[in-house]
Amino acid sequence: MTATATEVDVGLDFYPEPFPDGLPTIDLAKISLAKLLEGDEQEAALLFEVCKDKGFCYLDLMSHEKGVKLVKDAERVHHAAKEFYGAPVEEKRKFKTRPPETGLLDTGETGCDAEGNPNKMEMVNIAQSGFFSGNEEYELPPFLAPHEDLFRSILRDGNVIHNVILSILEKQLQIPTGTFTSIHKLTQDSGDFVRILNYPSPKDGKPLADPPTPPHRDAVSVALLFTWQGGLQITNAPNEYKRLDTELDPEESWFYVPPLPGYVIMNLGDAMHIMTNGLLNSGKHRVVTPPGEQGKHQRLSVLLVARPWAEAKLRTVDSPLVRPGQYLDSDLTAREWGREKVMRIIGLADKAKHTKT
Ligand SMILES: [Fe+2]
Repeated sequence: MTATATEVDVGLDFYPEPFPDGLPTIDLAKISLAKLLEGDEQEAALLFEVCKDKGFCYLDLMSHEKGVKLVKDAERVHHAAKEFYGAPVEEKRKFKTRPPETGLLDTGETGCDAEGNPNKMEMVNIAQSGFFSGNEEYELPPFLAPHEDLFRSILRDGNVIHNVILSILEKQLQIPTGTFTSIHKLTQDSGDFVRILNYPSPKDGKPLADPPTPPHRDAVSVALLFTWQGGLQITNAPNEYKRLDTELDPEESWFYVPPLPGYVIMNLGDAMHIMTNGLLNSGKHRVVTPPGEQGKHQRLSVLLVARPWAEAKLRTVDSPLVRPGQYLDSDLTAREWGREKVMRIIGLADKAKHTKT
């Protein structure tokens, strides 16, 4: 099945205002999910090039029924989020953050006003392992529980798309089938989640001085971002894992990634960079207040991420295209590495939280 975004209802009413003209934007490659699923060699090669270069692209989901379903489910999550983020803050805080090694920022925010209400960004994570790994009691709080079937559905389908990408990267890297996909299964204990982010519109109508999500690179393997307003930016400043969370890049190095109806924004995270000894890229990014009139509206995003199985060692794969050697100094499992990396990101978020807006 193939269709274009204009032929299929892609929920254009989710886009409150057009993306303004005249802003610095980045022209990311558009990759067809249908072609990837059909085994199109050229499309697979393009995906590989994108992953070695910026580590970001648009994935055209309307080209295949699996993608169409994912778009519709993301819209349903967006619709639900509009309601549940209106719940009182004390109700939302009943959803406790689990320890970082399993919870990975289940809930939180990067700024609150004098009344204690989030005023920069707030989020909830719904954990994949909570539903599918069978080794933990997982119960959603009342404000999220009515949407459990939807969360299960989008996590299951997101995992399929993640593995489509990972299996193509295996082929391109000329490594055995399963090298990546066997450590990204739906039923494995991992830090996978669907994250729903809420960026309230600034009360004074002016863009926030500090990005509500500070610059970082993702502690994941693959991320799929559904967003309906601008705000995501990536930098063209030199990109190096070891300087990832500390260096401030110049303002002129940041470019918007405008949302496109029917497309999801795909990026690789640090796990892929580490397992390919730096060959595949994990692009640094941040989120600022949506530009122009879009900034007057609450911004909701839905993020689906895959992380390696918690017990997998993050070691360099044996590929003729990857230089030998280990990227990390120590032989960490994904769980240990994720904990260390996430604590660094939490530190950044805390810093932003205490920044006056
Ligand atoms: Fe991110």
